[in-house]
Order: sequence, then structure tokens, then C-alpha cells
Amino acid sequence: MAKIQARQVRRAFSIRNAKGIKENLTVLEHFSLDINEGEFLSLLGPSGCGKSTFLNILAGLDKFDAGEILVDGEPLQERSFNRGIVFQSYALLPWRTVIKNLEIGLEIRGIGKKERRRIARHYIELVGLAAFENQYPHQLSGGMRQRVAIARVLAYQPDLLLMDEPFAALDAQTRENLQIELLRIWETDKKTILFVTHSIDEAILMSDRVAFMCSRPGRITEIIDIDLPRPRTEDIRNSVEFALIRKNLWGMLQAEAAQIQSYGAYL
Ligand SMILES: Nc1ncnc2c1ncn2[C@@H]1O[C@H](COP(=O)(O)OP(=O)(O)O)[C@@H](O)[C@H]1O
Ligand SMILES: [Mg+2]
Repeated sequence: MAKIQARQVRRAFSIRNAKGIKENLTVLEHFSLDINEGEFLSLLGPSGCGKSTFLNILAGLDKFDAGEILVDGEPLQERSFNRGIVFQSYALLPWRTVIKNLEIGLEIRGIGKKERRRIARHYIELVGLAAFENQYPHQLSGGMRQRVAIARVLAYQPDLLLMDEPFAALDAQTRENLQIELLRIWETDKKTILFVTHSIDEAILMSDRVAFMCSRPGRITEIIDIDLPRPRTEDIRNSVEFALIRKNLWGMLQAEAAQIQSYGAYL
């Protein structure tokens, strides 16, 4: 049984158009996707196609209007301790030190002080920030803050990790380092990860499967298996296999972008 089963999900927002008139914007329709236990699945699609909308629904931060979502075979619950989320911006608490930021989720779970510290330290070490545990977020670089955000979510030990373009705001070098670091961590504990991105290379490098989304309304149009060997390293980007997958996905994104432009003509 798949970890997540989304069937014919629909989500529409009531918006005001440019003329100030209310209208319905259907963002997701006939959105169906299975995510397997322990897999790294990327959701790839053009900006505005509804990737974050779906992730937010899974996170319990938004609702859906029709369809069905099952987690471990049970209907999705609004609140759950088993999901962890990492957004593009770090969402750290500025008045707490690094280690105290890591402990938040553990506090909420009612884990005792000593045990909290032990778990938090383990994950700080995993992301290479042991020397910074008593610093405050503003004393860290963007890349380090995102490392803290990832360590925090890992410390919380969720079954399902939801990551919404977690590296999009980082410079290229930091992003590449963190991609490899996240893969290394994932390869040791194989949590189920839904990773939202609009970067083709990132999706290929990280994933077992890439689910490609089209927009208006957003739905999955194709799912591609990434049969590249693991553990994956930087070198894999230069392989022929990688280039072939990239070409294929690039073609899909281009076709989708052309579609969006043709809609634009009628707006
Ligand atoms: N709360 C909301 N109210 C109205 N429209 C929204 C809301 N959230 C998202 N949208 C619209 O839904 C579409 C998809 O947004 P989003 O899921 O953020 O896309 P993506 O993450 O793929 O870039 C966009 O057109 C966006 O404007
Ligand atoms: Mg988004």
C-alpha cells in the first residue's frame, strides 16, 4: 500500500480578477498521485501550477474541495505529528538559539529535556553545525539557516517529509552541497519525502521518481522513474543517462510553458 494516495483531488479558490469581479480559480483538478513508503518523489512543474497548494493540503495547512487523500490507508488528518515540513524560507524562531530551534518539535511531543538535547545534538552534527548550536539564526548565513530548518524537521522524526523548494533561495554552491547532504541523510533513514521543485536538475539528482505537473488546472500528467544508481554524487550530473532524462523533462516543461503563453493571449 502506498504511503500517500491522492485520488481526483480538487482545490478551487475564490479570487477577485483584475476587474474586481469574484471568480473561481480551479488550481487542482483530477489530481491523483501515489507516493510509496520510503521513496523520494519530486513534484516538478512550472511556477503557479499548484505544487505548493498540494503540499499545503498534505501538510494540513489547507483543505481540498473534492476527491480523497489517504495516508497509510486512512483519511488525511488535519493535525498529525507524523509530518514534517520545510519551506523555502527558514521559519526559524529568531529568539531561540540553533539548538533550541531544533528542540521545538520535541518539546511539543513532550520529550524530556535531556533526551531533547541528545536528539537535537545528533541532528546538528548530521548537518555539520555542531559548532554553532548556541548561535541565533541572525548570526548564520542563509545556507546554515536552511540546514537548521532541515535538522529541525529531521529531529522531529516524521514519517513523511514535505519540502517546498527548500533550496530555491540559496546560492548555487550552497544548494548543491545541501542537495547532496540531504541525499546522504535520506539514504541512511529512508523517510518518505515529497520534494517540490521547479528545477529539472534538482528533481533528477534527488529522486526515485519525478511526477510532472501541468497547470490550469494542476494535475499530474506523467511520472518518470529515475533509474540512476545511488548513492548519487555531483558526478552523476555529467552522465549520459542524466542528460537524456533532462532532455525529456525539459521538453515537457517547454511544451507546458508554450501552453501557458497561449492561455495568456486570452486573459
Ligand atoms: N490562498 C489562495 N487564494 C487564492 N489563490 C491562491 C491561493 N493559494 C494559491 N493560489 C493560486 O493558486 C495557483 C497555484 O499556486 P501554488 O500552489 O502556490 O503554485 P506553485 O507552488 O506551483 O508555484 C496560483 O495561481 C496562485 O495564485
Ligand atoms: Mg510554490
